This record gives sequence, C-alpha cells and structure tokens, in this order.
Amino acid sequence: MSFYKLSQSAKLRPVLRSLTLFPLIAGLVFGGRLVTPLSAADSPRERLSLDANWKFHLGDIPLDSFPGGQGIALYGPDFTHSGAKAGHTWGAAARGFDDKGWRQVNLPHDWAVEQPFDPNAVKQQGYRPRGIGWYRRTFKLDPCDRGKNIELQFDGVATHCAVYFNGTPVHHNWSGYTSFYIDVTPMVRYGDDVNTIAVRVDAEAMEGWWYEGAGIYRHTWLVKRSPVHIVTDGVYANPVKNADGKWTIPVEVTIGNTGKDAASAAVDVSVFDSAGKKVAGGQSAPVSIVPLDQALAKLSIPVDSPQLWSVDHPNLYEVRTTVLSDNKPVDAVSTTCGFRTIRFDAKDGFFLNDQPLKLQGTCNHQDHAGVGVAVPDSIWDFRIRKLKEMGSNAYRTAHNPPSRELLDVCDRLGMLVMDETRHFNTSPEYLKQLEWMVRRDRNHPSVILWSLFNEEALERTEEGYEMARCMNALVKLLDTTRPTTGAQDKGQLGPDGKANPNNTAHALDVVGINYQVSSYDQIRTAYPDKPMISTEDTSQVMTRGEYVTDHSRNIVASYDDVFPGWDKYSNARNSWEAIARQPSFAGGFSWAGFAYRGEPSPYGWPSVSSFFGALDLCGFPKTEFYIRQALWVKDRPVLTLVPHWNWAGKEGEPIKVMALANCDTVELLLNGKSLGEKPVDKFKMVSWEVPYVSGRLEAVGKTNGGRVSDFTIQTTGQPVALRLTPDRKALAGDGSDAMPVTVEALDAQGRPVPTANLSVAFEISGPGRIIGVGNGDPNSHEPEKGNRRSLFNGLAQVIVQSTRDAGEIKLAATAAGLAPATAVMQTQPCTPRPYMP
Ligand code: GAL
Repeated sequence: MSFYKLSQSAKLRPVLRSLTLFPLIAGLVFGGRLVTPLSAADSPRERLSLDANWKFHLGDIPLDSFPGGQGIALYGPDFTHSGAKAGHTWGAAARGFDDKGWRQVNLPHDWAVEQPFDPNAVKQQGYRPRGIGWYRRTFKLDPCDRGKNIELQFDGVATHCAVYFNGTPVHHNWSGYTSFYIDVTPMVRYGDDVNTIAVRVDAEAMEGWWYEGAGIYRHTWLVKRSPVHIVTDGVYANPVKNADGKWTIPVEVTIGNTGKDAASAAVDVSVFDSAGKKVAGGQSAPVSIVPLDQALAKLSIPVDSPQLWSVDHPNLYEVRTTVLSDNKPVDAVSTTCGFRTIRFDAKDGFFLNDQPLKLQGTCNHQDHAGVGVAVPDSIWDFRIRKLKEMGSNAYRTAHNPPSRELLDVCDRLGMLVMDETRHFNTSPEYLKQLEWMVRRDRNHPSVILWSLFNEEALERTEEGYEMARCMNALVKLLDTTRPTTGAQDKGQLGPDGKANPNNTAHALDVVGINYQVSSYDQIRTAYPDKPMISTEDTSQVMTRGEYVTDHSRNIVASYDDVFPGWDKYSNARNSWEAIARQPSFAGGFSWAGFAYRGEPSPYGWPSVSSFFGALDLCGFPKTEFYIRQALWVKDRPVLTLVPHWNWAGKEGEPIKVMALANCDTVELLLNGKSLGEKPVDKFKMVSWEVPYVSGRLEAVGKTNGGRVSDFTIQTTGQPVALRLTPDRKALAGDGSDAMPVTVEALDAQGRPVPTANLSVAFEISGPGRIIGVGNGDPNSHEPEKGNRRSLFNGLAQVIVQSTRDAGEIKLAATAAGLAPATAVMQTQPCTPRPYMP
C-alpha cells in the first residue's frame, strides 16, 4: 500500500496527464545557482540490501500456530490472515512468531531447484515440486530514521505472494516477474522494537510453460530516504536526438512527499561521461508537492557531441539527479543512459545510429544450471558474454520482464533487448504490471522494443486487437522512443491471404512473426508499410555432445536436423536463411539462446529440461552455437568441426562431419590425407561422410583462395586427470559475486575427453562457497546442490560464490582413478553493497 495515487492504468490518460501537467510553481529560486550534485555515496538516501539472513520454511504454516493474534482468539483458528486487524495478524505472518527452527537462507533463493525430480510434478516446470513457502526476516531502525520515508522493495518473487509487515498484510503480488515496492513509512518501528517482514509465497501458481522457480529469487531492498524524495523508478532520462542533429536528455522526475508539510522542490541533473567527467547539467523550476502526493519536475538537458552507444561500443553516461528542497539537497539517484538512435523501417529493416543492423537475436528464459532462477548478477554477465561470443546482438526476454541486473549487463556489454511483459491483459492489475515494466526499463539504451505478448489465442480477433490497442496506448504514454510489437504465431493473414483486419499488429508498431516462415513473403506483402521482425524462429533441439538420435534414451543428435514439427524451416540454418533473405526484416530471435529447465520437448520424463538452446543450461556450446557463429560473425574467420573424433568400435563406418564456417571453402584432411576441398554454402555450411579411422581430422578454411582459418579434432585417449577452468581469475569479495568453473577430464596428452561421463567430487576452502553444480544433460536427475556432479559428454560446471572476506578460494576436484585438479581464485577486497544486517 502506498500513500500515493495508485495505478494510473485504470484511468490511463487523465491520471497520467495530471502527472505530466502538474503545475510548475515558481517560488524558490535555484536557477543559475551552482549546486554540487550529490554522488550516490553522499546521498541522504540509503538503499540497503535485505538479501542476507532470511528464515525459510518449506510448506504452509497452519493459521493457529501462533495463537497470540487477536483474531484467532476472537474468531477461532479458521479465520484467515486477510481478516486480521492491522498489526495483529497471526500464524507465521505475525510479529513474534517463533521461527528459530527455520532454515537460514540468503537471497536470491529458489527452493524448487533444491527439490528432487518427481515424475508426478508438472512436466513443463521441469518435474520439480513447487508448493508453498514462508520467508521471515527482522530488522531494526535507528530512532534517528524517524520521519524518513521507508520502502521495502522486492525485485521478483515466484510466483504469487502475500507480504506482511509488522503483523499487517501490506501487499499481494500477482506475477512472478514484476517487482513491487511497499511504502511502509507509517508502520515502521524504531530502536529495539524490531520490524518483521513475513512473506507467504505460493508457487503452486504458475504463469508459464517453462521452469519458473519458487521463492524470493531476485534481490530485496530497504530504502530510507527523505520525506521529499524521488519515487522508485521515478527518473526518466533517456537521450533523444533532435531533428537538428543535436542531443538532449528530456528529464522527468517524479517527486513524492511523505512529510507533514507541503514542500517545494527542484531537481538538479548532472550528466557524467564514463570517465566521471561532468559533461552537461541543468536545473528544473521548483514544483510544489502537498503532503502524501507526488509532483513531476521536468527539464531538458542539451548534451554536446556525446559518444554514441552501440553494440560494439556501449558507451554509457551517468545521470545524477538531486532533489533540492529549501535550498538543500535532500535526495539523489543515479541512472544510466546511452546516446543512440533506433529506427525500424518497413523497407530496410533496423537501424542503430542510422546504420543498418540485422538483429541476430535469441529468446531466453531466466534459469541457469545449479541455481535455478536465483541467478547471481555476475552470471548474467557470463551469459551475455557467451551470446556475444556467438555473434548475437539481440536478446528477447521470453516471456516476461527480466531482472534489472540483466538489463544493466546488456547496457554495459552492448546487447539490444526486446523487453516483454508477461500477460496480455488490459485489466487494471495487468496494465499496472506493464506500466511498471516500462517505467523501470525506459532509461536502458539496450532496450529497443516493447513486446506486449507472445502467441496469444486472441491475437487475430477483434478482442485481441482492442486489447493490443489499449496496451500500446499505455506504453506510448510512458515512452514514445521505442516501438511496440507482439510475438504472433498466427493471425497476420485473413482467409483471403490478405492482412487480417482484426490482427493485433494493426495496433502495434512492428509486426512480430513467430515461425510461419513459409508465409514470410505473404505477410510482408500484406503489411507493406509496417516494419517486420521474426520475434521467434528455429526451435532446434539438440543434446550437447550427442550425434546419434536415440529416442529410446531421449537423446537428440546435434546436427541441426531434428526439430518439433510445427515448421519445416525450424532448424537453425533454414530459419536464419529465411530471415536473411528478407532485407526488410529487422532480424530475428531464435528459440533459444540458452537451454532451460522444463518444456522437455520432444520428450517427457525422464527428460527434465529443454533440448532447445544454442548453449546448454550451463552455457556450454552445442552445435547450434557454432552454426550461429558461422552465420553471424562477420569480423573474423570462424571454423568449427563437429562431431568429436572418438568413435572407437565404429571403424570404417561413415560419420557425418560438418564444418561450420564463414569462409569460401573448407578442405578436410584425415590423418594428413585430403578428403577434398568443398565450397561452403553460407547458410547450409558443408558436410562430409567420413569412414571412421582414429587419429586427426583437420579442416582448413580459405577465402579468396587464401588460408584464413583451421580447426583440428583428435581422437583422445582415456581420461587420466581432471582440469578446472574458472571463468575469471578473481572474484569480488562482496558475498555475491559468482563465477562458473568448467570441469573437464583430460587424457595423457592433456586433451579434453569429449565422451567422459564420470562422477567428480568437489571441495572448497577459503572465502567461497559452491552454490550449484550442473552438466547440461537434460536427462540428468543428479542434485544441483551439493559437491558432486558427473561430467556429461566431457563437461560439468561448478558455480562458486565469494563470501565477504578477501583471500584465496581453492576449489579441488577428484574422481576415482584420475589425477585431481585444483583451481585457485582470488577474492579481491571490496566494499560490499550496503546491507541491512
Ligand atoms: C514457441 C513458444 C516458446 C516455446 C517454443 C518451443 O511457440 O513461444 O515459449 O514454447 O515454442 O519451440
């Protein structure tokens, strides 16, 4: 419950207009006076992580388990939490409930990934029991915090939840993908009177046909700020290039006032380049804010010749917004922005900074090996780096808003984002979710497209069109700088083959096409004036490291030739060829970048994760990764051969060898003898049938007759030793930085054995912990928590997280009969982000 006007979405235009037209009252004079902008560190605002020290209980708690509550005594034990008088709810929601026996956990936390697989659990959720869980945490506030505005922030809880604060129900959340912010100012207690947060999470509720995890799986925060303050997500500062070619940042800042008196406040905005140098600034006229209301301060900041943001040079700027009240800085917030233009053109596709750029995108869910959906921030960094290595420049957040940290990484590394809301729904609750997404994400230079739905049954009906019209209008009230789209698997064409008049796309800016490759030309013709994009394609299935399909063992070969039957073009090469041959298409988003748990098409139990993905659940490349590299990387030669060359027992039998390359020709040599040089089809690549002889298979790539690349695979011997390869040399000693460590088995010559499937045990010492293990096998039922994992086709992954101490982490790996391996990772001293003990 907030003091402020609640969702604007019920009465969209009038209320949003009232915000944007809020009278600017001239009064206090700040204009012209030099104000030193507050840095985040100097800001009177404190944003404290609440991630540590939660108590967790798996399962529901009977309501009468804490009979101290007034309602239970009066009305009996069947009375629900919702009937409680303020401050007096009961059971696990109450203050003072005895949670000593509960398990201590740190967030982000996903309890589903800790559960054993169960054939009776929901297949699409990866056969993991979900259920109900409770979290509790206490904190104290200093008496000098009295009078401040206090807000609890939950970045993401799967799936539905009820939040109780000091015995009062304060929030119900109806989406596993939206954040919620709870202003608890009047209810907080000070000094030794502890504050209690209790959260009942209902993960029986499901919103997707993929693994969604369970629990408080994103960060939580406590924000203390001045009564006159910038509301959460209240700074909109997204640079625009004007018709005259000059750049400005139109800034809108929503200021709230929870004090007792009316306030007058102005905002000072300073813009800093990546070196920390102030490059521009300005100050708004003061606005007046009556108690318990909000006002909007606006100004426009010209910026001379900024460095542009692009996928190759993601230059970022910091916008520091300081609220000045009574001549004093009372609050400050830093946001990031980038200077770039985007344009979706009906004839010529997508343009970034006026340069054509084909979107080479992937769709992704949000779980990773070992950790489920409780993904540490640095693992987002790892995943985006992997996708960039593949040549990808765009990311679709299928089918929900991502974490804030994912977008920060995309800004920083240069990855364009199609940002998708979870629900196609125009009721106030769901418009509120859409509004939250746009408000939160509209400063990110990486975000280029708002997606309003995925494959909705109503997308070809009048009802769907009206809904899309309404959602589109809401987005436009909040951001006109990015187009809208919807990911449609049907409905663009009517029975006559012309544009369906009831198609949702008429209400949106960009026609989004999921699959339907054979109708590309027809759809293109039917919508001559609309930009167009493949919002989803491919759906190629592969088991990493397997090259023979065996349905009896739920194994799919990795040759880009097995895919579910809904489109004959659904392999990676055909899909991209079809998109590349449409010059007017902005590009495409393949299904999928990373594999994910659940939706184990084309199988069911015992398969528990998907076979989609160019990378497996750990981020180990499958054949599709190398295919996309060859299709997408333009600035360097790439050449990879598949499969491996360990086929003992198949001597003389033909083995299909594919060269995935972006050169003109590839010559293949087996044990030094040429098997011929073949032209490389730039979409289909090139392959050979090679009678198996152990040894060395070598490929030489040529362009214009000159050697540009080579690649060798060799038959290895038996595994004799282990190898551990950390993704980075060091971790920040902040208690949250995490990195994947790759585990391999080597033969006597130090070559990784691609067929090794042996069990490995891990031991960690020093300031680090193992937070998960994985191997990318969609059929594996091994636990993802603990200190043991089998290699799957030569690879496994351990995720190591730092503690808050500096020092040396040692990870040791042992396996029966093999020489052990040790990896040493330094943790570097650093100031952890501020946190509430
Ligand atoms: C699409 C859908 C995705 C995923 C994919 C699998 O139709 O949008 O969520 O299910 O199919 O091929």
